[in-house]
Amino acid sequence: MLGKIDRKIFGEIIKFSKKFRKDLLLVFSIIVFISCLDAVNHWALSKVFDTSGIDKDITVPLLWIILSGGSMVFKLLLTKWREKIEVRKLDVVIQNYLNEYSIGKFFTFSNGQHLNEHSGIKQNIIQTGFGSLRNQMNIFIYTLVPSLSQFFVALVIFYWLNLWIGLAYTIFSVLFVWGIIKFNGFLTPRVDKVRKVEIENSRLIAELYRYVTLIKNEVAEVKSLLELHSALGKHHNTYCDTWLGAVDKLMLIRLSTQIFRFMTIVFAIFLINQGQITMGSIFLIYLWSGNYINAVWTITDLQKQYITDKINIEKYFQLIETKPDVELHPNPITEGFDGDIEFKNITFSYPKRVDSASGNLELGEAVLKDISFKIESGTKVAFVGESGSGKSTIANLIRRAFDPQQGEISVNNYPLKNLHLKKFLQTIGSVDQEIILFDRTIRENISLGSNRILSDDELSTIAKLSGIENFFHKLEQGWDTTIGERGAKLSGGEKQRIGIARALAKNPRILIFDEATSALDSRSEKQVSRAIEKSSTGITSIIITHRLSTSINCDKIFVMKAGKILDQGTHTELLENSQYYRELFKGQITPKTNEQ
Ligand SMILES: Nc1ncnc2c1ncn2[C@@H]1O[C@H](COP(=O)(O)OP(=O)(O)O)[C@@H](O)[C@H]1O
Ligand SMILES: [Mg+2]
Repeated sequence: MLGKIDRKIFGEIIKFSKKFRKDLLLVFSIIVFISCLDAVNHWALSKVFDTSGIDKDITVPLLWIILSGGSMVFKLLLTKWREKIEVRKLDVVIQNYLNEYSIGKFFTFSNGQHLNEHSGIKQNIIQTGFGSLRNQMNIFIYTLVPSLSQFFVALVIFYWLNLWIGLAYTIFSVLFVWGIIKFNGFLTPRVDKVRKVEIENSRLIAELYRYVTLIKNEVAEVKSLLELHSALGKHHNTYCDTWLGAVDKLMLIRLSTQIFRFMTIVFAIFLINQGQITMGSIFLIYLWSGNYINAVWTITDLQKQYITDKINIEKYFQLIETKPDVELHPNPITEGFDGDIEFKNITFSYPKRVDSASGNLELGEAVLKDISFKIESGTKVAFVGESGSGKSTIANLIRRAFDPQQGEISVNNYPLKNLHLKKFLQTIGSVDQEIILFDRTIRENISLGSNRILSDDELSTIAKLSGIENFFHKLEQGWDTTIGERGAKLSGGEKQRIGIARALAKNPRILIFDEATSALDSRSEKQVSRAIEKSSTGITSIIITHRLSTSINCDKIFVMKAGKILDQGTHTELLENSQYYRELFKGQITPKTNEQ
């Protein structure tokens, strides 16, 4: 009866609810119980109507007064209890649970999946999906269950009063549900369109915030605002197209409920004239048909919210259930890797995700073409070559952000795929072109990859190797100086050295420097190069750079061009044997083409 997606979402919501089953059941029971209590109360009142004026006996009115007063107090107490359960065990608890669940799932994706997509989109899908899921759980508990409870109690009363009225309401309910499902089918694809526009816009907006300094430097404020205006306008148009049509349809549904209620009351009056029901029954029908219609309206109102949420929730689950690209070995090797790395005939293309939510993949052009090389444990090698030649891709493959489509990577003769990925990653220290720092203390930033916070002694050993000691006196609170957003208080060279320290703090077997000095001026470059030199002694080190000065002292240099290793050897050997290397080297030392 319901669509596949609806069933799936209900399934997921029920799965989530399982954790809270006991308290939810308690809350629902209280809600249903209160509806029943109301019904009994109203029934007693209808008896008062039926008996008054017929005899002078006041037992029935007295009974009603006691029942009504008692149930009022009882209802208040029950409601207070219910609210306490909600506050203690449901509201924030459910929200926190969803939050941890989302982030936990987010962490399970391979780094390739994170690198490969616009992270703003992923974040938006998760956050709106999460919001919608929470919203629906709230609606389920606080609105849907109470309305359904009213709805069913009303039906029972109708049957009890008169078979025909009961039947009429049953048939109407079936028609109503059918109408709602039709309506749902009409609206879903349209709301999906609106949602797509929203995701696009959220990406635009995230970029405007993130790149504000660039926009201001380029004096592109007006241009950006105009772009935003037109994107938002498109959203409004799509929104109107969708919901204006829906409003008319909702109106029809509402009108039909009103007319139906009116007709049943007319019918009840007819039944009184026939002597088939009493005056008290008319009162009950009037009251509970009102409750019934209210419940029905509430449920239709929930439709609009549900359909919007449904799309978000669907996208959320699609994303969250995306299988990690990188499959983990069930019985992985947990030790014995010291940085002996071999690439055998590796061919690799970046996967392009066609639809960010569905996880469909398509392969791009090969960026590594049948590459083979060996890095011996404890040696220092460099990958050089112009930008786009595939150097960073090699680092991504070593860290298993992606798996290659062809060939095999092995570490100490074990296939990389068979290693315990987390344990392996714990042995790798990475320093990239831009060091990402949390707005926490330097100590915490350096300790990120270690399983504890490092002590002053440990830090000062690392400081010597990473070159932090040269600027340590500038840090107001020493290791406990806070970094400020995106490390704004530190210079580029200082940030790189903190990055090196963070890599060293892991006590790594392998160090990967990916353009670690490329964004620096020549003085900082020298300082950081010295730090790299010092810190990489005796550790398998991979230096990726398009600046040849950084790699001169390496044991081996691999010269890359367009996804292939063109030549390899030491600096002196390459100068002698490789024309391309000579050209690169000359190009960089003559001032004309020196890019910095
Ligand atoms: N996440 C990605 N998705 C698709 N293509 C990518 C991705 N990262 C890099 N590429 C492409 O792969 C090629 C090699 O990139 P990369 O290894 O980063 O080069 P290098 O580090 O040598 O500058 C380039 O053409 C680049 O555009
Ligand atoms: Mg690169």
